[in-house]
Amino acid sequence: MPQAVDSYGRPVQSLRIQVNTVCNFGCFFCHMEGTGVHSETMTPDEIERIVMTAKRWGVNKVKFTGGEPTLRPDILEIIRRTRKHISGNISMTTNGIMLKRMSRELREAGLDRVNISLHSIDRERFQFITGTDSIDQVMDGIRAAKEAGFDPIKINFVVLKGVNEDQIPLMIDLSAREKFILQLIEFETTREMENSEEFQKYHVKLDPIEDRVRKISMSVEFNELHRRPRYHVPGESGEAIVEFVKPMRNAEFCNNCTRLRVTSTGFLKPCLMRGDNYDNILSHIRRNESDGKLDDVFLNSVKKREPYWKKEDEIEDSGQVFWVSEG
Ligand code: 5AD
Repeated sequence: MPQAVDSYGRPVQSLRIQVNTVCNFGCFFCHMEGTGVHSETMTPDEIERIVMTAKRWGVNKVKFTGGEPTLRPDILEIIRRTRKHISGNISMTTNGIMLKRMSRELREAGLDRVNISLHSIDRERFQFITGTDSIDQVMDGIRAAKEAGFDPIKINFVVLKGVNEDQIPLMIDLSAREKFILQLIEFETTREMENSEEFQKYHVKLDPIEDRVRKISMSVEFNELHRRPRYHVPGESGEAIVEFVKPMRNAEFCNNCTRLRVTSTGFLKPCLMRGDNYDNILSHIRRNESDGKLDDVFLNSVKKREPYWKKEDEIEDSGQVFWVSEG
């Protein structure tokens, strides 16, 4: 099977499919997968055709995102259709609310893994971040996901200055106790929004936090694909596994990107951070065009892939001017 590779030598190995843009949370920092809110949504048939196209070019991994993917009534059908073609990992990013009810069905439909967003374990701060009082449902959802056999379960924790930074030790204990992988994620935004009041207020560099975790860790391993370090940290009740996702002004992060995105409106999107280089693959599917035509559209989108953050962006970072607000 041929493998699509972009002009920077990066193979495209996974598809990140946004199945909707509605969500029952309202996290104030949400990047909405770089698309904003849209109403038109692809059918399971149409999603399947995109998956089949990507598969012909070496993609064998899929992640579903939203919005909140579990709010789509046909999400199980979408997963089943995807499973027919993809032998690698199929995962989903979710706020966890529906997992108590749906974990088993999701698993049976062919979902391998879930990433559950949990940005605080304090009820009030959870409410401040998400706008909902549903932390209990999310915790129930995490347990249900475990019982249904999702393994590993990853928890996404976006670190926010003055909001949840201080909860990291608690999260490490919780992850040791509940046996999930804790992903500490840097709040990210585009170049244009870096100086916004909100970003300045809540963004925090994860390097000092990672240094601290490294010091208390027993061992570190490196994930093959993204070369992300994974720390094994002793918690109160056993060992916790902690990973860091540090995208901002990080050329290495972009160098290791192997994904292509699909918006809920059926556009191929080469980069989370850019909205100016989409390709409307859905329009070709709706005109019932050939696989060959879809291959062209897919490969054209791969050709447009370009690292967002480059080495020269990092040099600016070393002065730390870009994120320190100047009065
Ligand atoms: N920066 C970092 N992570 C974000 N997420 C959403 N918005 C941002 C952002 N601005 C996270 C969500 C979810 C995953 C899809 O991405 O919390 O866990």
